[in-house]
Amino acid sequence: MPTFDQEGGRPSPAAVSAVGLRKSYGEKLVLDGIDLHIPAGSVFALLGPNGAGKTTVVKILSTLVTADEGELHVGGHNLADAPQAVRAGIGVTGQFSAVDDLITGEENMLLMADLHHLPRARGRRVAAELLERFDLTGAAEKPASTYSGGMKRRLDIAMTLVGSPRIIFLDEPTTGLDPRSRHTMWQIIRELVTGGVTVLLTTQYLEEADELADRIVVLNDGRIAAEGSAEELKRLVPGGHVRLRFTDPADYRSAASALCEVTRHDEALSLSVPSDGSQRELRSLLDRLDSAGVEADELTVHTPDLDDVFFALTGGANVPDQPKESAR
Ligand SMILES: Nc1ncnc2c1ncn2[C@@H]1O[C@H](COP(=O)(O)OP(=O)(O)OP(=O)(O)O)[C@@H](O)[C@H]1O
Ligand SMILES: [Mg+2]
Repeated sequence: MPTFDQEGGRPSPAAVSAVGLRKSYGEKLVLDGIDLHIPAGSVFALLGPNGAGKTTVVKILSTLVTADEGELHVGGHNLADAPQAVRAGIGVTGQFSAVDDLITGEENMLLMADLHHLPRARGRRVAAELLERFDLTGAAEKPASTYSGGMKRRLDIAMTLVGSPRIIFLDEPTTGLDPRSRHTMWQIIRELVTGGVTVLLTTQYLEEADELADRIVVLNDGRIAAEGSAEELKRLVPGGHVRLRFTDPADYRSAASALCEVTRHDEALSLSVPSDGSQRELRSLLDRLDSAGVEADELTVHTPDLDDVFFALTGGANVPDQPKESAR
């Protein structure tokens, strides 16, 4: 389904799109009119607290659950008309493991290869390559029940890749992984995207969305609370500032009197100036310092991190209106 981006009118084919997605379970409204547009070859992160509806979105888009309402397209196919075609083009790693504990890692992989109707030799080759890539070759012959949580998660994702899907849904891919395994997973996701794969992931880790995602949607209570790049979202919450450090006390005093709205840190000879970190505000700050004839020894921009954004957006705190158009 070709759509057009706002700036240049260039076609930007959506790998996944949803318009007006709604879903209730009984009386409970879980998704209350969600719109998503995920360009091909990008990483899109769904962020939200427990129960926000992330897994429900993944299940609907991967045809496991039907939506009540909404125009949904995945890989160019309408989900309502062609669920089989959608299924053929996607890979899904659910929040809970699809690994069969009773058989070995390799057997789990070969089972997936069979499900994808890969010829035997090809299936063995693909399985071996993926086991190697996920650092599971040494454990390939052991029953999956003996794997650690992280190994099982890696096997789970390796299994998703057997059919070489072009669109991948990862529901909390790194929950429970140690920092090193998490970084390995991030690297793998980046490589997939470099190869043109589109990734929709859900995560509880704001750092993960920050590291990987081109765009982030914050879901709260079945609605989109905010959408944008990590940088755009960080600009939504107050707390950003520029810190200026000086070594010469005279420079420090001149700067403090030349700038309005500064917080002084006399002992450290540093000043904090509220700022959204944008180019425009930085330029005006530097112009004022220039006019005063002072030069800071160090200038650092501090933006709120995604944690601040997350708590502000999902905790009912006041957040300024989102910019109408995103910078991307
Ligand atoms: N099969 C179901 N039947 C009834 N209610 C359900 C069902 N699946 C999900 N829900 C409800 O829908 C809401 C959203 O659940 P969902 O699993 O999508 O949230 P989530 O954002 O993935 O949460 P988590 O971070 O805990 O994984 C919750 O209130 C949940 O109880
Ligand atoms: Mg979930």
